[in-house]
Amino acid sequence: MSRVIAIILAAGFGTRMKSAVAKVLHPVAGQPMVIYPVECVERIGVERVLLIVGHQAERVTEVLGDRKVEMIHQEPPRGTGHAVMQARGVLEGFRGTILILNGDTPLLREETVIELLSTHRRAQASLTLLTTHYQDPSGYGRIVRDTRGRIKRIVEEEEAGGQEKKIHEVNCGVYAVKGALLFTLLEKLSPGRTKGEYYLTDIVEEALRSRHRVEVVVAGDPAEVMGINTRIEMAAAEKIMRRRICERLMGEGVTILDPETAFLDAAVAAGQDTVIYPHVCIEGRTQIGEGCVIRSGARITESTISDRVIVNEFSVLSHAEVEEEAVIGPFAHLRPGAIIRKKAKIGNFVEVKKSEIGEGSKVNHLSYIGDSLVGKGVNIGAGTITCNFDGVKKSHTIIEDEVFVGSDTQFIAPVRVGRGAVIAAGSTITKDVPPGFLAISRARQKNIEGWGERRRRRIKKREKDNE
Ligand code: UD1
Ligand code: CA
Repeated sequence: MSRVIAIILAAGFGTRMKSAVAKVLHPVAGQPMVIYPVECVERIGVERVLLIVGHQAERVTEVLGDRKVEMIHQEPPRGTGHAVMQARGVLEGFRGTILILNGDTPLLREETVIELLSTHRRAQASLTLLTTHYQDPSGYGRIVRDTRGRIKRIVEEEEAGGQEKKIHEVNCGVYAVKGALLFTLLEKLSPGRTKGEYYLTDIVEEALRSRHRVEVVVAGDPAEVMGINTRIEMAAAEKIMRRRICERLMGEGVTILDPETAFLDAAVAAGQDTVIYPHVCIEGRTQIGEGCVIRSGARITESTISDRVIVNEFSVLSHAEVEEEAVIGPFAHLRPGAIIRKKAKIGNFVEVKKSEIGEGSKVNHLSYIGDSLVGKGVNIGAGTITCNFDGVKKSHTIIEDEVFVGSDTQFIAPVRVGRGAVIAAGSTITKDVPPGFLAISRARQKNIEGWGERRRRRIKKREKDNE
């Protein structure tokens, strides 16, 4: 590819979002909007990515992580033309193509941008822009063409006259411009009458005035170039993006029973023959293996799930790791640091935090396991609780392989139970249990003969006396 540098505009306030958070930071399918255009140009393979930042610039820099993006500050934001102007110093003398994208069009596909670039190259144009047709074009810059259908200029909504407002062809905010020309055009801009902003869109008229060649590429799918200005548009984009994610995964061999209600974030991966039931929420960089079953109501965040795992209804997993063939839930809660080894079972109303549950072990009912290391083949009875917090510090519970824990046991951490030991139901374990021992810590049971009969008689007598 001939030399291309991308500029992405992300310095605006996003006033129409009515938010304390900068618009480009608002998430679409679980990912800040600004990441989409950045990843789009990265995939195209541009030479450099320049991001114009202003409002909440630090936060924008943060969400981009270690991506190779150069930040350029624009302060205060005085329009899209002014935004691009900030890159002048950095691009001095650059003779290749400058690709400009808005930071608020997350649905834009790389194929479309590639088409724009190749038209630009083929036509040896000075400026090529992307347009589309909208039934309702309000909010967008309109494409004004002459009687022969050639582009004349772009007029912004707030500057447009009655007739111009009726134009359905709109500007998508994606441009390819000759590097040698861009800043000469920008220099000539004067602020718009209504808002006093420098409109990047005015470079079209400037280019034509100095007899430069301007090309237009019309995007086939209008949804793709939707700019997000309001929360209503954000919800519409979210829906389209979610659908795309489901289609990508279905294409990779994942069964999604109802893509309308499967909420999967952009970075989610899932293996072949995994089945996702309706009303499932899978978030962040969650990875799911092959042949898994994720049932309705599950919410899985930033977790790693190996092959053939079953996550039953209404289970909540966050920053957890689940190995092959484990079974989770229904109604299980795996909190950060939960590691569930192969074939282990976590049943209903069980909460696991910062703990490892060993291979084939079972915690089937109503338990809390926190800051614990549970070995292999352990059975933890219903209602077992690790008392890990004394109000000041967290302590550990270690339960070695093959231990049997009877129901309603409390482990007062720190405590260790040796391999193969047995804990009698209803015990409160405060001291370490050596391997193979039985630990029992409950009051001995007394059976009192005839007590029930005597009680009934007492009650009857009292009732009679009261009559
Ligand atoms: C812009 C176009 C409009 C087009 C639409 C497509 C202009 C003047 N108008 O309008 O023709 O139809 O996009 O979606 O370009 N930004 C800055 N600095 C600023 C102002 C904005 O970096 O000073 C950034 C914003 O963060 C945003 C992008 O530029 O990512 C576009 O700005 P926005 O205000 O959304 O422009 P629109 O009114 O949508
Ligand atoms: Ca916009």
